[in-house]
Amino acid sequence: MEIIIARDYEEMSKISADIIASQIRKKHDSVLGLATGDTPLGTYKELLRLHREEGLDFSKIKSFNLDEYHGLAPLHPNSYNFFMQEHLFKHINTIPANEFVPQGNTEDPEEFCAWYERKIQEAGGIDLQVLGIGRDGHIAFNEPGSSLASRTRVKALVRKTIEDNARFFSSIDEVPRFAITMGVGTILDARRILLVANGQKKAEVCAQFIEGPVTSQITASALQLHSHVTVVLDEEAASKLQRKDYYNWVRDNKQLVHKKIGR
Ligand code: PGA
Repeated sequence: MEIIIARDYEEMSKISADIIASQIRKKHDSVLGLATGDTPLGTYKELLRLHREEGLDFSKIKSFNLDEYHGLAPLHPNSYNFFMQEHLFKHINTIPANEFVPQGNTEDPEEFCAWYERKIQEAGGIDLQVLGIGRDGHIAFNEPGSSLASRTRVKALVRKTIEDNARFFSSIDEVPRFAITMGVGTILDARRILLVANGQKKAEVCAQFIEGPVTSQITASALQLHSHVTVVLDEEAASKLQRKDYYNWVRDNKQLVHKKIGR
């Protein structure tokens, strides 16, 4: 795993957006895996700026979002469909038919999940998957105990996640108890993975998934099994890492390192 420690949220967002933008410039019809939440908001804002000011072209992009609350219609203001429209899609030139977000109010979730997996396959697989991380170590809504081989399915949310997400709803009782989510196995199939995290509240879990053992109790730790993962953290989220000096040395000597590993 490549660990990049940014000064603050702003720098974290800029570095993440640059990674996404260079993927798009390298392959105009890239397939992106996208995430919702507070963490990627700054990254998306920077992508909008790159689109507006530097003409970053999303017209050939396909995107697949990680997850959606079960039971919420796409136009529900708390749905992740709505979030993506508001914070990204309506500001850039993606083609609506190429913006895939799980449909929370589908009548047949099982059939829908199989269809979603098929669509990812038909698109040629995900080139770059963007991830945040929950305080319980989840990636997408793969809560502790999720199979590390899991595919897109309906997952019950844990109490910590429901509490964390209650801030978007008028009461905690309104937070859906289930979500449709890509599985850990689905995520690990992406060719490259970018995980972003910021703030003190993520420090403990970042140390666990980066430097602790691979365990289904912290599903982000499964990223240790992937060959091309970049983690971009702000200083607070990185504060409990044991090997910060090493990560910073690698970052400062990136050209040297990349020459050696051929990237
Ligand atoms: P956050 O959520 O970006 O709002 O902290 C991350 C997550 O739960 O995956």
